[in-house]
Amino acid sequence: MVQFTLPKNSKMRVGKTWPKPEGATNVRKFQIYRWDPDTGENPRVDTYFVDMDNCGPMILDALIKIKNEIDPTLTFRRSCREGICGSCAMNIDGINTLACIYGLDEVKGDVKIYPLPHMPVVKDLIPDLTHFYAQHASIMPWLETKTNRPRKEWKQSIEDRKKLDGLYECVMCASCSTACPSYWWNADRYLGPAALLHAYRWIIDSRDEATPERLDQLEDPFKLYRCHTIMNCTKTCPKGLNPAKAIAEIKKLMVERVV
Ligand code: SF4
Ligand code: FES
Repeated sequence: MVQFTLPKNSKMRVGKTWPKPEGATNVRKFQIYRWDPDTGENPRVDTYFVDMDNCGPMILDALIKIKNEIDPTLTFRRSCREGICGSCAMNIDGINTLACIYGLDEVKGDVKIYPLPHMPVVKDLIPDLTHFYAQHASIMPWLETKTNRPRKEWKQSIEDRKKLDGLYECVMCASCSTACPSYWWNADRYLGPAALLHAYRWIIDSRDEATPERLDQLEDPFKLYRCHTIMNCTKTCPKGLNPAKAIAEIKKLMVERVV
């Protein structure tokens, strides 16, 4: 039988348990992934107790409370706290989502929080999104035109504008791509659901004049076709979008242009 010896740095350390808040009667337990590359130590899961009678209703409220009142070294991204900036994406109770719009009441029992899966970690709950953003840039996320610029705006009919609904709302949180097994194994070459949703957003924009070039760029065994319609992307998207459908629409356009 083959035996594997895991490298030392693949094992979790025993984390720290912080004391319960004094006098609190309504306390909730949080288990949070911690890793600081500067210490050279392995990751650990720390345990915190939060007084729910003095905490806002969202997961992000609890994280901010822990950082402000218990452990200032806990590190995570956040900005808008409105589900708009996409920066607070993390894995909460096994689901990739936005901490600022995920209610504490949506988690039963202890609250377990990890960084987005299968991404390099910068520190604690912060994933390194450099490659993810480079993939987004690669699909040319802007209007490409060839005709002369109009004197005023590029016009669009109400019907054409409606085609962008369900696409333009994406906040680039990476929850979908990091929930996708195909992306986990092939992120170096498969663009993943978020970048492909954006690709489709520009392909079907009636004002854009680079559709053939955009499709040419995606005609590749990995960039697009590594999507196997697993649907984790659509299931997890905290904005209720459907990247799997956008990918399917691109595949349809690929077929239509060769028949
Ligand atoms: S499609 Fe949804 S999950 Fe994916 S990046 Fe956009 S908002 Fe986030
Ligand atoms: S803080 Fe902006 S999406 Fe959560």
